[in-house]
Amino acid sequence: MFLTSWLVDNLGSYQLLFNASIGLILFWFVSYLLPKIKRVRSLPPGPWGLPFVGYLPLLQKNNEYEDLDRLAKKYGPVYSLSMGKDTVIVVNDWNHAKEVFKNDDLLARPIGFGNNKHGVSFIQSSGAHWRDHRRLSFHVLHDLDQVRSSFDDKIKTEIQQFLPKLGKGPVKNLYKTFLSSATNTISFLLLGHGFEDDDPVKQTLIDTLMVSSHTGSQFGAFSSGLRPRIERLFMKPILKKEAPVNYHEKTKALPKYLQNEIDQHKKKQTTDFDDYIHGYLQEQKNRKDSSGNVPFDDETLRANIVSLYQAGSETVSTTLVWAILYLIQNPDYYEKIRGEIASVIGFERLPEYSDRVKMPSTMSFIFEVHRIASLVPVNLFRVATRDLKIGNFNVPKDSTVIVNFWTINHDTFLWIKPYEFDPTRFLVDHGAKSVKPPFLTPFSGGERNCPGEGFANVEIFLYLVSIVQKYKIECEPGSTISFEAEYDSIRRPKSIPPLIFTKI
Ligand code: HEM
Repeated sequence: MFLTSWLVDNLGSYQLLFNASIGLILFWFVSYLLPKIKRVRSLPPGPWGLPFVGYLPLLQKNNEYEDLDRLAKKYGPVYSLSMGKDTVIVVNDWNHAKEVFKNDDLLARPIGFGNNKHGVSFIQSSGAHWRDHRRLSFHVLHDLDQVRSSFDDKIKTEIQQFLPKLGKGPVKNLYKTFLSSATNTISFLLLGHGFEDDDPVKQTLIDTLMVSSHTGSQFGAFSSGLRPRIERLFMKPILKKEAPVNYHEKTKALPKYLQNEIDQHKKKQTTDFDDYIHGYLQEQKNRKDSSGNVPFDDETLRANIVSLYQAGSETVSTTLVWAILYLIQNPDYYEKIRGEIASVIGFERLPEYSDRVKMPSTMSFIFEVHRIASLVPVNLFRVATRDLKIGNFNVPKDSTVIVNFWTINHDTFLWIKPYEFDPTRFLVDHGAKSVKPPFLTPFSGGERNCPGEGFANVEIFLYLVSIVQKYKIECEPGSTISFEAEYDSIRRPKSIPPLIFTKI
């Protein structure tokens, strides 16, 4: 009796609740789930990941590119993954990579990409901010031919001061030795001067570079900032090595020092455009006059300088380390390069960058080091700024796009025996010329390629040839070379044995 009257009283409201719930579920299905299913079905093929976190925890720590390579063998030239709430499209062959480079809607970086304590530089930014700051940096790095030749001289002077340091006994950490010198060469470009070895500012710079380059690969960015807590909870264990606790202590002096440099440049009141800070300040002044929308302020200048130091010194230093390891492993190539030095330069005169055109074996050696070491195994992440296609594959707006250089550099359609070190693959005309094919792109491609390519090429050639000209190189007795690598911001040798440079 009681139950019947209760039902009569409440049935109406339960029915209402029931109908509303069904309505809500239908609404959710039509407005959210259906488009999502449609979207997933329209994506390139790819593996399933775990709920919420996707494939990210399944990628091998410190060698994510190897897993991307493995997946390419299964899913083909373009595949998709989910990483947390991000959709990621991985491009693994040259034909599709070319399309990425050409596409203006693939020039942006993901939000939160590479944020650091030094502010937002043009490496991390997108849109007008990126374009304006990059244009200026490109101008400084490329366009001023007159200034360039004096830079080549500065590099040569730095190399002359650097060379005797190699001969002073076993070189315990070749990377740090190169980094110290490469920091000076890039300082000429950025600040207009180098540093003495015992200058505490140089030590701060090197500490900053050593520490920040080991704080993890770009893949860590998928778990940063705005991600829901649950993602962070799952992803924490897969983040790369944490920065040492004293990160802040070691590097906090840098912004202050850089601001001091900027203030000194401001005081000089020169119209000469002879280093990056001068070029930037000039632009800052022009912008003030014409009230541009993009900030050209001191904070961005400091951030750009730190990024240029990071992008410009550890890349060159690590490429040189790989080159030395491959030289030791391949004494026949060491002899070929010395043979070219003997006939083109001799053993007294300093090498010039223009000597390279007569040194095909040397250039082939450098190309092969770029290929096999694949210093940047995947490009710096890009993001699609609208729905687009790469070949026949759909790429939805806001997807992260990764070009997998490692797989392209080891693609058996492009290279014979790709896992073997063989510089002769670049020789043509019976060894008279060395040609880099378009699909070898260590500096990436298109409008957002590496602006430091020219500078890096000059440095790598001059350092390498100057070393071979003066030294025989061996491992310290009892130690051996390993080509095992680890990937953080770049792909670097896991260990470098102590090396002996003997003057010849
Ligand atoms: C062996 C040496 C180097 C290699 C292999 C290398 C490679 C690369 C690659 C692959 C990219 C990613 C481009 C992309 O988004 O697809 C890049 C970006 C960049 N590199 Fe290099 N790089 C080297 C040296 C340098 C040097 C010497 C400088 C500066 C003097 C430099 C400055 C930069 C900057 C500023 C970017 C970001 C460009 C942008 O976002 O617009 N790099 N580099």
